[in-house]
Amino acid sequence: MTQEQILKSLESVIDPELRRSIVELDMVRSIEIGANGVIDVTVSLTTPACPIRGHFQTSVAQAVSALEGVTHVNVYFDVLSDTQKAALQQKLGRGNLPDGALAQVANVMCIGSGKGGVGKSTLTANLAAALTAEGKRVGILDADVWGYSIPRMYGLGATRPPVSPERKILPLEAHGVKVMSIGFFLEEDAAVVWRGPMLHKALTQFLQDVAWGTLDYLLIDLPPGTGDVSMTLAQLLPQAQFVIVTTPQPTAQKVARRSAEMANKVSLEICGVIENMSSFATPDGERYAIFGEGGGQDLADELDVPLLGKVPLTMPLREHADSGTPLVLEDPDDPAAQAIRHAARGLVAMAPMPLPVLQMQQAEPPAPVAPAPPASPKPAGMSLPMA
Ligand SMILES: Nc1ncnc2c1ncn2[C@@H]1O[C@H](COP(=O)(O)OP(=O)(O)OP(=O)(O)O)[C@@H](O)[C@H]1O
Ligand SMILES: [Mg+2]
Repeated sequence: MTQEQILKSLESVIDPELRRSIVELDMVRSIEIGANGVIDVTVSLTTPACPIRGHFQTSVAQAVSALEGVTHVNVYFDVLSDTQKAALQQKLGRGNLPDGALAQVANVMCIGSGKGGVGKSTLTANLAAALTAEGKRVGILDADVWGYSIPRMYGLGATRPPVSPERKILPLEAHGVKVMSIGFFLEEDAAVVWRGPMLHKALTQFLQDVAWGTLDYLLIDLPPGTGDVSMTLAQLLPQAQFVIVTTPQPTAQKVARRSAEMANKVSLEICGVIENMSSFATPDGERYAIFGEGGGQDLADELDVPLLGKVPLTMPLREHADSGTPLVLEDPDDPAAQAIRHAARGLVAMAPMPLPVLQMQQAEPPAPVAPAPPASPKPAGMSLPMA
């Protein structure tokens, strides 16, 4: 019996979440053939707390034991390094999310920034509404468990979400968007103290025990900074993408760069930058660059990702956030709303999804092969007329 034979037998071991063989996924770290037919196999997992460990334990042992001459199989585990994880992510491409509640979610996007108050939540709320207006099915997970603000921005009070007969939490729905927030479970304005394990559990529940259903986009509103929540989510969602929000001044850009570094460290793909609070225009058209200029473009250039939009300061954006209806729905022509809709279209262009109709045509042998949808060009560093 040879290493090749053993490796071949391991092709039958399928990662139930990624739905591919552990050989194809490069997760077989080592195979050692010992005396008397004892085989040691080490499998690399994506995270140390991989819940499907037991599955691998059994299937690896079964697959290898079937070979002639094998008397005993020891299965060991280690964890993929960051580089290996990045390679795996590359191999899987986008949109391959774990089974369970997120199985039918095509794109997960975290909206983050290095610091607070730059407009993450406002942009998340409005991007979700803009994507819905583009005909996409969208959910928002408010992951700011300390300073949740999405319920207010969507006019949802402290209503407890219902639980389905399958014991899944049903997200609340407003303006066509499914919303989940810790705010739904707390007394209004109650302070929350979260410690490590509780925080991890709450976020895991939001992802695994919420019936998100079929979504084109799940937008995740992150708390400020690069702390525990971002790390936990990165661990739970290795395929999520990251949108960085910054204000235009150079110091803000430096802070935002830190969140980019964090995203890189945990192998999350950064898909773009949105500059918020870009400038303010008076009713007679005079422009004031209150928070400076150019920071978003500089950061996008530095990270080599597109600048998805420059969202100006406008009073209605703030007013609508406070009153519970996203501005893009009420006044799509407001300059801030236009910029956000533009950014939303940029996100759509980056994650092209094959039309179901085309897929069906391709699956039918007699039909002529449908031409592949043209690759959408990556929007690159566009600057908007109004900003
Ligand atoms: N472009 C804008 N024009 C006017 N007001 C804005 C704009 N962007 C955000 N705001 C306002 O700025 C304040 C902070 O925005 P928001 O809560 O979205 O920031 P955040 O980054 O989510 O903050 P935190 O870090 O606390 O979660 C809000 O009152 C919001 O209405
Ligand atoms: Mg916020």
